[in-house]
Amino acid sequence: MSELHKVYIETYGCQMNLADTEVILGVLWNKGYQVTKNQNEADIILLNTCSIRDNAEQRIYGRLGNLKKQKNKKPELVVGILGCMAERLRKNLIGSKGVVDLVVGPDEYRRITELIDEVYNGGKGIGVKLSRTETYDDIIPFREDGISAWLSVMRGCDKFCTFCVVPFTRGRERSRSLDSIVNEIKLLSQRGFREVTLLGQNVNSYLDNGRDFADLLAAAAVVDKLIRIRFTTSHPQDLSDKLLYTIAEHPNICNYIHLPVQSGSNRILELMNRTYTVEHYLELIEKSRKIIPGVSFSTDIIAGFPSETYEDHLMTIDVMNKVRYDGAYMFKYSPREGTKAHKMENDVTEEMKSKRLTEIIDLQQKISFEINQSTIGKEEIVLVEGYSKKSDAFMSGRTDTNKVLIFPAIDGILPGDYVKTVINSATSATLFGKYVETVNPVKDKIQLTA
Ligand code: SAH
Ligand code: SF4
Ligand code: F3S
Repeated sequence: MSELHKVYIETYGCQMNLADTEVILGVLWNKGYQVTKNQNEADIILLNTCSIRDNAEQRIYGRLGNLKKQKNKKPELVVGILGCMAERLRKNLIGSKGVVDLVVGPDEYRRITELIDEVYNGGKGIGVKLSRTETYDDIIPFREDGISAWLSVMRGCDKFCTFCVVPFTRGRERSRSLDSIVNEIKLLSQRGFREVTLLGQNVNSYLDNGRDFADLLAAAAVVDKLIRIRFTTSHPQDLSDKLLYTIAEHPNICNYIHLPVQSGSNRILELMNRTYTVEHYLELIEKSRKIIPGVSFSTDIIAGFPSETYEDHLMTIDVMNKVRYDGAYMFKYSPREGTKAHKMENDVTEEMKSKRLTEIIDLQQKISFEINQSTIGKEEIVLVEGYSKKSDAFMSGRTDTNKVLIFPAIDGILPGDYVKTVINSATSATLFGKYVETVNPVKDKIQLTA
């Protein structure tokens, strides 16, 4: 009877969850389930959840409150929690808010239909075992046609940063085979995709039969030179010279590195178990800028880790001023049960965390604004992604360095085209430009680097 079941899914958290949602839908689709974007017609509502900070989980509890009302009206509705929160809270989630029937962790998605059947048979569907080997290699993700695709190249994390719940929710690090990744990119190329982002919690430790992440990037880049290759996240510990040279060598590997620093204080970095010093980090940035001219950086920063003093905080400000990131994701420290830092005293008050975070955000906005202003008058090639959110009179694209650029729509220009633009204004978040000409990025890049 499963043909009749309609599934609606919502995704929270990081890009790995977005990619997992496509794997989950792939599994369900293969078993005859239908996918719907209208939750009112769904028989099964799934939330693919995140546990990274307490507020991520609170959001899900809020959502479960709404779903309870829906379920009161339609008692046969099945509600499932998937992803990191499922793994962290396991059976404690069942019956949560009187609504959860199904709990499936990140390594059990192959079994999801079996678990749904258990619910239909009157039981509770719980699958939360972690695996050392599961990579969903052979599962074709359910993707709509488009320009950009996410592609997980590895799962799990072995770094055990002391603040982080991911090693517990996603299990041990494992890499997907290089050949299966390249094959998937070939399929994406045939379907007209123009951008692939290779995903992992720490892609730099990718390893498949002696082939490392640089080898994977190089193999991905040559599949279709019209496809831009992006990747995230790089841990500063394993960013190798070979990787930097590989990025420099291939015009279609984007000159953009997300390199989370977390803190500018060596004492805090050690307490975080980040395994690098600020000095090492800054050297990496400098080296990357030499090897890849024009490379842009973004980062993650945590404000108010246990024992962080105002001086430690100023060191973070100092690193931001030295690196001048193009962008940053900035967070207040949130204690997570089961992590090492959870045992440390959460002694920075909420008020201090907010104050430091505000200072960090304000500084980053100022830096992003200055960097973006300095691009005015320059030419940039963008991959056109679609129409601007605000109006169909404008199109939106992204530069190689991952900046959003808006330009007046031109007849005949379509999503997936590469166009040269000239920038005429900028905010801290967006560049605004004018269409110059449509380009062939392969040839153009050769000219630029010649
Ligand atoms: N694997 C990536 C990051 C994954 S989580 C990496 O190592 O960089 C994304 C970001 O969330 C982290 O970089 C960190 O800045 C933030 N984060 C993780 N745990 C957190 C916590 N307990 N409190 C606040 N921020 C946290
Ligand atoms: Fe978490 Fe650290 Fe692993 Fe990133 S590298 S996922 S921050 S433990
Ligand atoms: Fe959240 Fe899990 Fe990603 S905790 S950030 S969804 S790996």
